[in-house]
Amino acid sequence: MLERDIDRVFFSAQELQDRVAELGRQITADYDGKSPLFVGVLKGSFVFMADLMRCVDTYCDIDFMAVSSYGSGTTTTGAVKINKDLSYDVEGRHVLLIEDILDSGVTLSYLKKFIEGRKPASVSICTLLDKPARRKADIRADYVGFECPDAFIVGYGLDYAERYRNLPYIGVLKPQIYQ
Ligand code: IMP
Ligand code: MG
Repeated sequence: MLERDIDRVFFSAQELQDRVAELGRQITADYDGKSPLFVGVLKGSFVFMADLMRCVDTYCDIDFMAVSSYGSGTTTTGAVKINKDLSYDVEGRHVLLIEDILDSGVTLSYLKKFIEGRKPASVSICTLLDKPARRKADIRADYVGFECPDAFIVGYGLDYAERYRNLPYIGVLKPQIYQ
């Protein structure tokens, strides 16, 4: 059904699983003994985060933040609004922000500063996808799944107008879908 709307697959379900497992091993090694707090940025990161944390083999806990920086279109409005704040006190904690995609970087640079203001022990960023060509804010991720080309992509949590998050792979939509 949904496959009919897809023009091209960028990352297959298997490629995603393999890379997520590698990231999980790396994070396990880096955070062992630190009891990190994983903060998922809703909604896009929820699929990635669910898979990633099952590949992390050390004590950790999770929280979520919800922000909006995008309307239902495909370009950023530049403004970040916090719709759901953290439920935990992060002072002294090792925080790992989990994102689906680092695009302009406006969202993550805002969130990183926001969390740093609460005196955590550290704040790092793990993003499944990175589009360095589109960066506006001065920010880089500590863990990157894949670099991806400057195209609007969907699936594995990423949406177009709230749809396609449930695709098990990542791909580009057919041009007529955006019309
Ligand atoms: P940034 O603030 O421009 O870095 O935007 C990051 C957010 O924009 C991500 O969390 C996504 O929700 C959304 N986004 C950016 N690029 C894409 C894309 O290609 N497909 C779907 N969502 C995207
Ligand atoms: Mg989105």
